Amino acid sequence: MRLANSLPTHVSIFEVGARDGLQNEKPVTTEDKLTLIEQLADAGIKRIEAGSFVSPKWVPQMADSKDVFTALKPNDLQDQSSIRKAGVVYSALTPNLKGLELALDAGADEVAIFGAASETFSQRNINCSIEESIARFEPVMAMAKARNIPVRGYVSCVLGCPYEGDIAIDEVARVSEILYKMGCYEISLGDTIGVGTPIKARNMVEAVAKLVPVKKLALHFHDTYGQALANIQACLDTGISVIDSSVAGLGGCPYAKGASGNLATEDVVYMLHGMGIETGIDLHKLAKAGHQISQVLGRQNGSKVAQAMPLD
Ligand code: HMG
Ligand code: MG
Repeated sequence: MRLANSLPTHVSIFEVGARDGLQNEKPVTTEDKLTLIEQLADAGIKRIEAGSFVSPKWVPQMADSKDVFTALKPNDLQDQSSIRKAGVVYSALTPNLKGLELALDAGADEVAIFGAASETFSQRNINCSIEESIARFEPVMAMAKARNIPVRGYVSCVLGCPYEGDIAIDEVARVSEILYKMGCYEISLGDTIGVGTPIKARNMVEAVAKLVPVKKLALHFHDTYGQALANIQACLDTGISVIDSSVAGLGGCPYAKGASGNLATEDVVYMLHGMGIETGIDLHKLAKAGHQISQVLGRQNGSKVAQAMPLD
């Protein structure tokens, strides 16, 4: 596969703050989540991961995902209570068939399965091996297909694992190809603990792009070591045009106490706009949303751009 060697003119932001961010913060109310999701949509974000249907014993912060998605269900004539914004896709994380059934009942537009390129991480995150996880995903893919629900695929630990350290690029490419061939419409490459550096990130994308079309890849780089923007920049001319990020850099890292969370959406949007790359996002509105949820959480806004921007 030849890589593009030129920058994209448009990047699609996949906003994960309400899921990946808030799953690693102290719990907030459903109402606060809904306010955040509404503000993100109002800022022009078109793809919002709004929750996850996982075991509430494992991730109590996501236990109210049913209520979140119910509030996002399309309006009918009787019910005017939905806060759904037209043209926005609201997505949910689903580890297994039970998760998919709950997500479908709650009205999620699309779902995501999540695997890993590290055996130990797979065991610790979803309580099964990589091969077992793939077997669990089969019926999820089949039911989603039957119900016409698009499925995204995550691969974690693409640039390193908290338990195993370095991860072979070939393994990242292998798992990515399996999820893609199973029918995932997009593969999101997760630097779960933000340990990557630019040349490693680029080499990893090039290896995966030999097996999965580069247009079907997304970058999901956490900012634990402050490398996420540099890593994205190193991959931007490969043909990738989807980036996952989290407003206000919500989230932390369970493996590094006090460390920053996901890459802040404000920071990547500022960088892209500065490079002449469109996102369709109103940075000012986005920063306001980030400030509000940071206030709710009683934490400093994790976006450098939002900290620097004058807000009225
Ligand atoms: P398990 O214990 O092996 O599952 O957990 P089980 O099938 O044996 O069921 C055990 C209990 O969980 C049962 O309840 C099930 O009903 C329940 P009990 O009888 O004990 O009362 N259960 C569920 N409940 C709600 N929703 C479900 C569900 N499935 C079973 N879908 C399981 C397996 C996957 C459920 C568990 O390990 C789990 O929930 N893990 C959560 C993992 C997680 O959410 N991690 C964070 C997200 S991944 C991530 O952040 C990385 C990413 O951002 C990319 C990156 O950065 O790299 C995506
Ligand atoms: Mg993540």
